[in-house]
Amino acid sequence: MFSKGVARRALQLQPTLLAKRTKVTLPDLDWDFGALEPHISGKINEIHYTKHHQTYVNGLNAAVGQFEELKTKLDSDPSISKQLVALQQNIKFHGGGFTNHNLFWKNLAPPSQGGGEPPSGALAKQIEAQFGSLDKLISLTNTKLAGIQGSGWAFIVKNLENGGQLEVVQTYNQDTVTGSLKPLVAIDAWEHAYYLQYQNQKADYFKAIWNVINWKEAAKRFDAAA
Ligand SMILES: [Fe+2]
Repeated sequence: MFSKGVARRALQLQPTLLAKRTKVTLPDLDWDFGALEPHISGKINEIHYTKHHQTYVNGLNAAVGQFEELKTKLDSDPSISKQLVALQQNIKFHGGGFTNHNLFWKNLAPPSQGGGEPPSGALAKQIEAQFGSLDKLISLTNTKLAGIQGSGWAFIVKNLENGGQLEVVQTYNQDTVTGSLKPLVAIDAWEHAYYLQYQNQKADYFKAIWNVINWKEAAKRFDAAA
């Protein structure tokens, strides 16, 4: 049995433990960096994951940490509210970057693990009903990707407010999709995702990436989104 003193000390430690647990980390990858070649080079994946995604992980943890710290001082200094508002931009950017890349890695797979294989089941039927063929959905997504001026993302989503219809949504920077828009496929159109291999030929990257899209994961997300 713990004495009351020990129990109290354990409780006092809890906030620290909780704070540590809330920190985000890089997700595990289901494949090696080089496994998506020749479509996406191993060097791109390595830098993208260990440097870029890590930056969003660090940025989100830092911004949330600062937010939590400032929040405790709000009672004694209401002007802190301005700093809290300013921090939200950081949370949006790094939180979006963290989330988007988690989606991205999971919706990629080498051909040996099913990458590029067309979807089956309910998602396949929905694509057929709305677009006529998978190629037409891919073509629409590529058009959206090509239209991004600067950095951004394209998402194939299931829109729960529109009867579960599929839509292709394009965002800028690290803006993500939330609420009724459930992401099935997320495609990174930042230069860091392709430049090392494709330089200014980003259309070739958009074309190549479909060879390693994990439609099984997309179908799973489609079925789970309700
Ligand atoms: Fe990225």
